[in-house]
Amino acid sequence: MTSAPGPRAGDRPAESEARPSGPDARSGTGALIDRYGRTAIDLRVSLTDRCNLRCTYCMPAEGLPWLPRGEVLTDDEVVRLVRVAVERLGITEVRFTGGEPLIRPGLVDIVARVARLTPRPRLSLTTNGLGLDRLAAPLRAAGLDRVNVSLDTVDDERYARITRRRRLADVRAGLAAAATAGLRPVKINAVLLRGINDDEAPALLRFALAHGYQLRFIEQMPLDAQHGWDRTAMVTADEILAALSDQFTLRPDPVDRAGAPAETWLVDGHVDSTGGPARVGVIGSVTRPFCGDCDRTRLTADGQIRNCLFATAESDLRTPLREGADDTDLADRWRAATWPKRAGHGIDDPTFLQPHRPMSAIGG
Ligand code: GTP
Ligand code: 5AD
Ligand code: SF4
Repeated sequence: MTSAPGPRAGDRPAESEARPSGPDARSGTGALIDRYGRTAIDLRVSLTDRCNLRCTYCMPAEGLPWLPRGEVLTDDEVVRLVRVAVERLGITEVRFTGGEPLIRPGLVDIVARVARLTPRPRLSLTTNGLGLDRLAAPLRAAGLDRVNVSLDTVDDERYARITRRRRLADVRAGLAAAATAGLRPVKINAVLLRGINDDEAPALLRFALAHGYQLRFIEQMPLDAQHGWDRTAMVTADEILAALSDQFTLRPDPVDRAGAPAETWLVDGHVDSTGGPARVGVIGSVTRPFCGDCDRTRLTADGQIRNCLFATAESDLRTPLREGADDTDLADRWRAATWPKRAGHGIDDPTFLQPHRPMSAIGG
């Protein structure tokens, strides 16, 4: 394990990457197109880098040096940038992430304001589920469409060991509240860790099927703040599918994946909460990369654009925003930030560098 650089400085500015030269890159019109022809329509907005759990594969027990408050975008600034993305850049999906987005005080109001944009984007949220029992109904009323909840185990002891907090019951209550509030489909994200919960794929699927939640397993990625990721310890998509196939019959999902990270299978003999066929997914970022179909762009809590989850360069929108830039200028900067996006994450490349900003400050 190498020592972890602090997350505060973020990654280097994008200006040192290739200058944008695409037809729409600085023309004042058009979508977020990159030099390989991909179009970003899905915006992931991190609302805070803070979290109320301390998952061992994500951050150290003592937490991280959080962003100073003054560097975090205000609610008005977040809504302004999302509005520019929706009105000028063709964004149709907005996902709120963290850290843990439910601890952002203005969350419900931000959701309500984004839900009033035209054209109205689809709105979702990725959360660890703590506090969702209380917030699910207000979020639904504000216009949120659905939630993804992180849950790596259904065993109390394991949950406490992985997250360093004894809160499994709260997550289960949050999941139930989300389903009751109509935040559907409720998806669960699970990361399997070697020697800790790598035997739990079938149990997690039984739990999800019993409650009508859609489970997806995520291959662990080199994004931890501690820089301790070890490829040989990673539980692979193939392993997960083999473990599931021992106890369930999986069939390829006929529905088009359409750029989604999750590859899905139908689980024979099971139905989901709508009465349709139950599904299980695997997000095989490492062994089954999907970068060629990527349609995402990211805004960090401190107002930086990341054109890739693994980008090592970012483009600052907060400074121009605070200096009075107009919407046209902000949209142009966002397009310019998109154009040099790399073809893929390059995890297998010997020159691969883990981004300076850790997963918890990107939002996945
Ligand atoms: P939906 O299926 O539409 O709900 O979205 P999602 O699966 O992308 O959302 P979620 O926020 O639940 O992310 C699940 C996992 O996928 C997280 O571990 C993310 O880090 C990972 N992920 C999301 N977007 C990307 C991406 O662009 N590239 C890679 N490699 N992983 C991603
Ligand atoms: N690799 C893969 N997934 C991760 N997550 C957090 N860190 C990693 C990692 N290094 C997951 C969380 C959550 C989602 C947003 O990302 O468990 O489900
Ligand atoms: Fe918090 Fe998510 Fe990191 Fe766990 S993985 S500590 S829930 S940000």
